[in-house]
Amino acid sequence: MTLIHWTDDTAKTFGKSNLVFHHDLADSHLFSEDALIALLDRYPPESLEVFTMGFDPGRSDEWRFGRHKGMRGADLMAGVKAGRMWLNLRKVNHADAEVGALCDQIFAEVREKTGQTALKSDLGLLISSPNAHVAYHLDIPLVMLWQIRGIKRVHLYPVDADFFTDAQIEGIALRESDESLPYDPAFDSRALIHDLKPGEMLTWPQNAPHRIVNGDMVNVSLSIEFMTPQALWHANVLYANGLLRRWFGLNPSVAKSPKILEPFKIVLARIAKAFGGFKGNKSPLVPSFSLDPARPGEIIYDDGVKPFVATETKRAA
Ligand SMILES: [Fe+2]
Repeated sequence: MTLIHWTDDTAKTFGKSNLVFHHDLADSHLFSEDALIALLDRYPPESLEVFTMGFDPGRSDEWRFGRHKGMRGADLMAGVKAGRMWLNLRKVNHADAEVGALCDQIFAEVREKTGQTALKSDLGLLISSPNAHVAYHLDIPLVMLWQIRGIKRVHLYPVDADFFTDAQIEGIALRESDESLPYDPAFDSRALIHDLKPGEMLTWPQNAPHRIVNGDMVNVSLSIEFMTPQALWHANVLYANGLLRRWFGLNPSVAKSPKILEPFKIVLARIAKAFGGFKGNKSPLVPSFSLDPARPGEIIYDDGVKPFVATETKRAA
């Protein structure tokens, strides 16, 4: 029995095109309300990330990281329902045996159908509030976005120089910055727009920029990031290009630089990583708000932090 509904065409173009699949996980007992609360309770609290965001999905600077000390699973779920937050449980496949087994099953199926072997798989569970959003960004690995509950509108953009610069993507590969990118509403004329529903999975070519806006309901999704040998090669080329630009003042281009140089770049990236990796301009997440079990959904901003406020114009948009 398979989890994903494949055709010959989708198996052939997996990881290379924007593809919507149907899957059978939306009704899995692993993601029922009670199961999610129990999972939140046993998940390592230091790995759980909680964010809130502003009201303009075009702004990537309105994304804040928070503390969730003392919040039990039920408190977090109540907070998601009542508030404006985005919970990210990273690498649940490493933290939970049942989800780990599911993730192994997914990648065994991917290998069987596509011949592609996944490396460094990271199954992230996203539990997010009605109308929450994630601004325009790109991810270095390949991604499968599985929708379990709720509907989210996904804008997916082409992987080309009109949508981000070489220096920007290298900065993400080097973890010099987070994944966010400057957004221009004019980009939308070339976007694929899809309302992702329970029982659907969306995947796209490596590094395709995207942004996501939830419908007016709680959303539960799996964001599964992974590498293939080819994707890891590409990620290391981006990493090396970043080093060549920052350390040697060169101006490499991932689209235009000669392929013949790539093996040397892989060596450069591996040596740099073996010596601890690129160290400049890191931007670690700094919390700026807290949650309180007694006040579900409320974002308690730190002193001096300006709260996000919904304006009528933004709501209308
Ligand atoms: Fe993403």
